[in-house]
Order: sequence, then structure tokens, then C-alpha cells
Amino acid sequence: MNAALRFPRMETRGVAVALLGTGVVGAALLRLLATPAASDVHLVGVADSRRQLCGVRGLVPAHARDALARTGAARDDALLCRALDASGVAERVIVDATASEQVAASHARWLASGYHVVSANKAAAGGGLSAWRALQRAIALGRTRYGDAATVGAGLPALATVRRLRACGDRLVALDGVFSGSLSWLFNRFDGSRPFSALVREARERGLTEPDPRHDLAGADVARKLLILARAAGWPLDVDDVEVEGLVPPALQAGGVPTFLDRLSEMDDALEDWRRYAEARGNVLRFLARLDDGGAARVGLAEVAATHPAARLVGADNLFSLTTERYRTSPLVIQGPGAGPDVTAQALLGDLLAIGQGSGFA
Ligand SMILES: NC(=O)c1ccc[n+]([C@@H]2O[C@H](COP(=O)([O-])OP(=O)(O)OC[C@H]3O[C@@H](n4cnc5c(N)ncnc54)[C@H](OP(=O)(O)O)[C@@H]3O)[C@@H](O)[C@H]2O)c1
Repeated sequence: MNAALRFPRMETRGVAVALLGTGVVGAALLRLLATPAASDVHLVGVADSRRQLCGVRGLVPAHARDALARTGAARDDALLCRALDASGVAERVIVDATASEQVAASHARWLASGYHVVSANKAAAGGGLSAWRALQRAIALGRTRYGDAATVGAGLPALATVRRLRACGDRLVALDGVFSGSLSWLFNRFDGSRPFSALVREARERGLTEPDPRHDLAGADVARKLLILARAAGWPLDVDDVEVEGLVPPALQAGGVPTFLDRLSEMDDALEDWRRYAEARGNVLRFLARLDDGGAARVGLAEVAATHPAARLVGADNLFSLTTERYRTSPLVIQGPGAGPDVTAQALLGDLLAIGQGSGFA
């Protein structure tokens, strides 16, 4: 018998889960699902881009990846949904731990059909405004829930705080911060002792950036997080409303990763000049996301004063600084690790548990 299918029994309480994506985040979630904290989470399906495995009576999380690799069948979302239906568990959840636009495009359909969605994938909630509006309509139609804690700050309570303040009648006046762990790490270390290109190479070797660092340096991922936060705060911004000033010069935007890495030092002089100019005025450079009163949204490199909370960041920490009507004299600041598989998986688990308990997302 397949070890992944030897699950003792199924319960009708808790949540039944089909997990899409068994990469860095998906694998970390499977490790968490094997712990007592997840005893009410019943894994009935697991999939990567090519294969899937269903087990109506439950899959053993610790063996699910191996079993998928050995005995996985062709991908078919309908069969995963059928496994959720057949589980007998009332709350059925599809977890998206992919970066796939195609998977994200199915979120609204699943939500409208009665499946909750818990996502680390920002493509739906942080994409075009019409797609985000479709998600909201689907949630209402299907009476379902959309767990998105992992999409911003890897589970730091940024979204939950924005929603809580809004529910209490507070109004977001401005928002700024550092929403990318890799860009935080790069600029926290960019002090003139090493060229920027050397820092990018080290960050890539440490796994802090994407395999193609341009995906981090372009700022698009930060813009998606800003959109998700702004919408949660009641500011329905579209993609074009966010001005994104990425760091990759036009000459380095095309071509493969090896070529980009070879030519990376072409970025050094301009960034070092800017750094020195900022330093001479007592400031530092940080890659900031900003939303101002009036709706102006911008993502890009900025000078901040040494007294700004972003100037004191360490490691790859994220920072969210919220100015609201009731937090006006001094902003409410949330800071901490905003990336990493374990904290991201924990954010997914937190949303799963909240759905199982019928409670609010923390
Ligand atoms: N890593 C972090 O610290 C972090 C933090 C916050 C949020 N996130 C977000 O979490 C998501 C996953 O990140 P990751 O680092 O785990 O990525 P990853 O290691 O590249 O894993 C992606 C997984 O998605 C699978 N996949 C792709 N298309 C699929 C499809 N159509 N159906 C089912 N599975 C599919 C891939 O399968 P194959 O292996 O077959 O291609 C792979 O297993 C991304 O949206 C990322 O932005 C990551």
C-alpha cells in the first residue's frame, strides 16, 4: 500500500485541503501539516505543475511529495475538487502555493463554487483590479473565504491589522515600508564598503533573491503587495495606479541570467553616486513602497532620513508603517521577517485553522 495513503481516519470537522505547489513553500507547509498544530487539517490532494495525487481518506503529509513523484497522475483540477467533495469534511480548501498566473485565474471560480482558497500566490489579489473585483464577487456568491495572509509580509500581521483598523472605522491616511526581504537585505548592507553588484551576487548565492535577481530588482512583486494592502484598506487601485521605478537599467532587462550577472557591475556607479549623495545629507537609500493620502502609489528607491524606521532595519526584515486617523501623530509600525518558507507556510496554516474554526484571519 502507498505509504502516503495510510491515513487512519477522516474527520468531518476541521478542513479538507488540496495543496497546489510542492516547491519551497508547499514543502514547508507539508512539514507543518505533519505537526499536532495541524491535526484538524486533512490533506486529500497534492499537486505540482505536472502531477497530482488524491486520497479521499487522507494523505500522510510527510510522505505526500515522495508519493506524488512516484505515483502521481496527470493534472486535473476537477479530480482534486472531487476528492475534496468526497472527503465528507464541510470546509473544503484549495491552497495555492504556486506562482502560477493560470492557477490564480481559477481562484474566483473555486470561490464561487464553494471552495475556500488560501493563497501564497499574489497574482490574483495583487493583479488587475477587475480580477480582484471578481474575487470579491465570488467570495460573496460562494459564501467562501479567501486566506491571503501569506501574500504580504509572509504572515506578519500587516493585512490583518489593516482590515481590523478599517473594521473599527479607522481610515488609512498613508502607508509606507519595505515589502521585499531581498531588497531589504541589499540596501541594509549597501554602505559603500562593497559594490551593489557584489551584494546582489551574494544575495543570490544565499537564496535570498529569485534565480533571476531581476524579478526582485524590478519591483513588480513589491507593487503587487502594495496593491493587496491598499485594496484591503479600501483603496481600489489598479496596476497602472502604481508608479514602479525598478532598479534594472533598460540595457540589462533583456537577455539570459548569465549575461545579466556578467554585466551587473554596470549598475554600480549610478547607485554608488546616489548612495554618497544621500549619505552626505545624513540619509540612506531604501527600496520603499508608498501610498500617500490622495491615492498616489509609488514603488522604488528613495532616500530616507536616519530617523525613519526603514533606516534601522536589519537582515531581510520587512516594515509596514501605517498612518491612520487614529495613528496620526506616530504611525503603527509592523516589522519582522517578511520572507522564508517556514513563516510563509505558517501564514497558510493560520488561515486554514481560521477557516476550520470559523474565526477571523489573524
Ligand atoms: N519562498 C518564499 O519565502 C515566499 C514567501 C511569500 C510568498 N511566496 C509565494 O509562494 C508561492 C510559491 O513560492 P515557492 O518559493 O514555493 O515557489 P517554487 O519553489 O518555485 O514552487 C512552486 C510550485 O508550484 C508548482 N506549480 C506551478 N504551476 C502549477 C500548477 N499549475 N498546478 C500545481 N502546481 C503548480 C511547481 O511545480 P513544478 O515543480 O512541477 O514546476 C512547484 O511545486 C509564490 O507565489 C511566491 O511568490 C513565497
